[in-house]
Amino acid sequence: MSISDCEILELPKISDVRGNLTFIEGKNHIPFDIKRVYYLYDVPGGAERGGHAHKALHQLIVAMSGSFDVVLDDGHGKKRIHLNRSYQGLYVCPMIWRELDNFSSGSVCMVLASNFYDESDYYRDYDQFLEAISKKI
Ligand code: TYD
Repeated sequence: MSISDCEILELPKISDVRGNLTFIEGKNHIPFDIKRVYYLYDVPGGAERGGHAHKALHQLIVAMSGSFDVVLDDGHGKKRIHLNRSYQGLYVCPMIWRELDNFSSGSVCMVLASNFYDESDYYRDYDQFLEAISKKI
């Protein structure tokens, strides 16, 4: 699992004079079944979210409104991705440390997740995450 496995996926977009429609089907448009949806909103200027990695969870991060940055880190390299299109989603595989920042005013970050919330699936300590990475390789 590396940051090269994490990529922006183009989602279906149906456009007509009434506006745009995008849809996401688990295992069809994204590489996992969707078991949970959560979203971040009313994020104060300058706030940072994330700051964790997941042991087994797959996620898709979508800027439903406005924009923000996601910094991905696999323990060997980092990349910063700016999300600002609701027809694109950033796929994040397991064992990737992620931080979200640079939220625009009024932005909404939706996350589709492959499993229910489970605190035991988290690495919330960066050094423990690096230790786990080093043991897996
Ligand atoms: P946290 O992991 O700090 O959010 P972020 O990824 O944006 O930094 O989660 C904040 C709190 O919300 C924490 O107490 C866990 C809880 N939570 C749930 O109960 N269910 C969920 O699906 C999520 C994502 C978080």
